[in-house]
Amino acid sequence: MSKRKQTEVAIEKIEEQEKYIELIHRMNEDEFNKTGKRKTFYIQTYGCQMNEHDSEMLISMLESIGYSQGISEEMADIVIYNTCAVRENAELKVYGNLGHLKSIKKKRPGMKIVVCGCMMQQPHVVEEIKKKYNHVDLVFGTHNLYKFPELLSNVFDREDILVDVWDVDGEVVEGLKSNRKFDVKAFVNIMYGCNNFCTYCIVPYTRGRERSRLPQDIITEIENLVQNGVKEVTLLGQNVNSYGKTLDEKDRIDFANLLRKVNEINGLERIRFMTSHPKDISDEVIYAMRDCEKVCEFLHLPFQAGSTSLLKKMNRHYSKEDYLKIVEKAKKEVPNLAFSTDIMIGFPGETEEDVNDTIDVVKKVRYDSAFTFIYSKRRGTPAAKMENQIPEDIKHKRFDRVLEEVNKISGEVNSEYLNKIVEVLVEGSSKKRNDIMTGKSRQNKTVNFIGGGENLVGKLVNVRITDPKSFSLNGELVEVIR
Ligand code: SAH
Ligand code: SF4
Ligand code: F3S
Repeated sequence: MSKRKQTEVAIEKIEEQEKYIELIHRMNEDEFNKTGKRKTFYIQTYGCQMNEHDSEMLISMLESIGYSQGISEEMADIVIYNTCAVRENAELKVYGNLGHLKSIKKKRPGMKIVVCGCMMQQPHVVEEIKKKYNHVDLVFGTHNLYKFPELLSNVFDREDILVDVWDVDGEVVEGLKSNRKFDVKAFVNIMYGCNNFCTYCIVPYTRGRERSRLPQDIITEIENLVQNGVKEVTLLGQNVNSYGKTLDEKDRIDFANLLRKVNEINGLERIRFMTSHPKDISDEVIYAMRDCEKVCEFLHLPFQAGSTSLLKKMNRHYSKEDYLKIVEKAKKEVPNLAFSTDIMIGFPGETEEDVNDTIDVVKKVRYDSAFTFIYSKRRGTPAAKMENQIPEDIKHKRFDRVLEEVNKISGEVNSEYLNKIVEVLVEGSSKKRNDIMTGKSRQNKTVNFIGGGENLVGKLVNVRITDPKSFSLNGELVEVIR
């Protein structure tokens, strides 16, 4: 879609929703004047940063309507579950919570229950909710988030469940307000959806096709964030390395050039990004990481499995050797580069040999950290129909074997930090002790340190590591950089 069209569509949609916001707001103000009580909402978010960001926008809409954020679902006037479908256990939690709300709603029938997000993009889930959880009031999906005020205005006088899930991709709707907390760091979506169809994964079905945001919209958003005190941004997409492909030629830049542009934003200190798909990472991205002083020395590069034949069945489009070559090149070009990854255990047909290949990659790359997942069958994905599904007990045994290696190596990598000085962006005081400050190093390690106090929040400091732990580094303040 051209820039003008994209912007016009967005403005129309936002204006339409503002009318509904105004309408409910008036209703709520009348009630507040009568009762002296503000209505509350409770929102629970599952899944990835995309969902977190969608929730920030839902919260902003609810606050404009006159609701305030409550602390418990039992007492709230509106309960929202923003759901994730990537693994079965995330889905089971949502069903469990909905079951729990049934008896609460019996006692407080005025309560409205809303379920949205990735799970709702699957027709069988919506059927299940209609059948077994008919105390739910509103269901909507990932493509029509901006319509929330309008949908909500329709459920107040309604007995039965309102379902509005679109199976087409939503246009990129710019301009939705977001209730960001303006911390030291923020997530910024640079694209939506995914075109890769890894055979195990539900995301392309729940988030639709890949769409990139215009570079100017991204830059403006980050400049705004920086004006509000944000020092670090993480650029988000399911596959940031293919950023720009859906843009008109006149607007198009690739991910490497986007990094270079963001690097020029005054006042911004650090840039991170995720997720990088190995099949699309170009040398230019690696060079941009090397050249841009704000881009942190940290690369999240999911490999999923070490076995080339398994990778083929996963539709990942790279081999074990391709992956290791990328790592080698990145390590050579970017000094002190830290790696993290996603690993999947128990994909259909996986053999003990395949698991050895996975462990071999872990040993060769020496990850600073890794997210390990047990394969979970997702209805409608090609892998769900594959033969040779792995029995649960074997999956767990293999998982433990891989995890042991991952933890051993990340512990070793951390122990090398003893007596080293690392740059930390200070985020706040530690949860356990308020005389200990905490933040992240450029390599994305949590660093806790003594010396200094709350006045350091948002500052870059140097910390000497005195006590490296397996999952964090402890140290003492050396100096404030700025
Ligand atoms: N777009 C990102 C990943 C998004 S999902 C990428 O391609 O790297 C995050 C992680 O969840 C994936 O990397 C994968 O390891 C895991 N995952 C996805 N589908 C899964 C499934 N069906 N079972 C278990 N883990 C899964
Ligand atoms: Fe899922 Fe693959 Fe897309 Fe990542 S790249 S979201 S794993 S389909
Ligand atoms: Fe994210 Fe889960 Fe959806 S990982 S994109 S919230 S399925």
